[in-house]
Amino acid sequence: MIKKWIVAFDQGTTSSRALAFDMEGHVVAKRQIETELDYPHFGRVEQSPEFIWQQQLAVFELLLRDLQAQPHDIAAIGISNQRETTVIWDKKTGQAIYPAISWQDTRTQADCQKIRNSQDASWICDKTGLLPDAYFSASKVKWILDNVEGAREQAQRGELAFGTIDSWLVWNMSGQKTHITDITNASRTMLYDIHRQVWDSDLLAYFDIPAEILPQVVDCSGELAIFEYQNSQIPICGIAGDQQAALFGQTCFHPGMAKNTYGTGCFLLMNTGKKIIRSHNQLLSTVAWRINGDIQYALEGSVFVAGSAVQWMRDALHFIDNAAESEALAQNAEESELVIVPAFSGLGAPYWQGRAKGAVFGMDFSTGQAEFCRAVLQSLAFQTADLIDAMCSDTGEPFVKLNVDGGACANGYLMQYQADILNCPVDVPLEHELTATGAAYLAGLHLKWWDMQTLAQKREIAHLYQPQITPIERQKALEKWQRAVKCTLAWADD
Ligand code: G3P
Repeated sequence: MIKKWIVAFDQGTTSSRALAFDMEGHVVAKRQIETELDYPHFGRVEQSPEFIWQQQLAVFELLLRDLQAQPHDIAAIGISNQRETTVIWDKKTGQAIYPAISWQDTRTQADCQKIRNSQDASWICDKTGLLPDAYFSASKVKWILDNVEGAREQAQRGELAFGTIDSWLVWNMSGQKTHITDITNASRTMLYDIHRQVWDSDLLAYFDIPAEILPQVVDCSGELAIFEYQNSQIPICGIAGDQQAALFGQTCFHPGMAKNTYGTGCFLLMNTGKKIIRSHNQLLSTVAWRINGDIQYALEGSVFVAGSAVQWMRDALHFIDNAAESEALAQNAEESELVIVPAFSGLGAPYWQGRAKGAVFGMDFSTGQAEFCRAVLQSLAFQTADLIDAMCSDTGEPFVKLNVDGGACANGYLMQYQADILNCPVDVPLEHELTATGAAYLAGLHLKWWDMQTLAQKREIAHLYQPQITPIERQKALEKWQRAVKCTLAWADD
């Protein structure tokens, strides 16, 4: 029987998606459901792990229905997922012992700040490529073990399992048998030595985390686990954290190639090949992927709030009914001085100030919804410009073109402004769902549906935005943004 499709699970912060790919690597069907985030306390962001799993299963079932497919029609599953988000569950009952602590959660920021200010920051960064921050999983795991009654003892007895969302999904998909994570997700925990490619005993001791709870680390492509669905066994053949998956989906296979994904946050990753580049500008070194034991690294700039600010305009401010409306609203804005720094989960790269909060500068009586909306969209472009600045300074190379993907690529206003502010072309591909594409590509590699050479020819351009503003206009806009960031940081330091 011919297996017709690869299905990619793209479990993101704000949505769970399932996409079907044909043997040409084209998306033939997709389903998506928005997830729910809980904000139980200032700085805390949680999700129900059970809900995430049920939702992912539900989108898969909807997709099968759309395709009029049986489970045995699916050749393989690829998984891409929101990274760092931490789940700890009881291996016997399969129940999480605490809600998933989101990557956006800043409850451990004070402790991480102390580490950052101590001598330990340097060796932690050397081993992991990461800067001590609440963003990564280690301090979240510690928090759960310290705060859930009996958890540490249970962990020491080997009764608990820790995983990022890939790990949690695979555990459930495999009928609660397989406890693995792929190396890209492992590299975001701050417990993994990216040089030696092992869980690091010094880091485990430092964060007081028993090794018994850790998943086995696997490659990003291969027969990694089995999805036991109804009476079928579907192989899971690709796994990568969503940003690494997008880098793969963009076919950035060679050193120097980079992409920016506009999702909940904004993530700029550049392939650095076999080299781990230690940033001098507070970017991260991370694993891009490992295939057949062959590892590639990346340099990453992570911005915490991008699409989530647009969602906030929709859900909290009710300025728009859907994200697409933000484009027309922004186009209608009057000349204004408004700048918004959307530091709702602190500021990520290159500032790393977890205590920062969102700030608005330059309001007057003429400020309305349109001006506000435009300033929010512009903040995505400014934050990306900060990352590119840092990356160019690390590599010593200018940025000649920015490859983009993610939902906000459809926003023509934002893409044009991005090109204007960067003073370089912005390349929007035909397929915006490159995160899921990356997961499907990884799975298909193992099935020999394609190889890296054929994949490299698959990316098609939909639109190339060229810069249109003058150098003086650009400089004025960037200066205004930098002043606003400076004030936001000063407020956080107080
Ligand atoms: O590191 C966090 C990142 O993986 C979240 O991605 O797609 O949910 O914005 P996304």
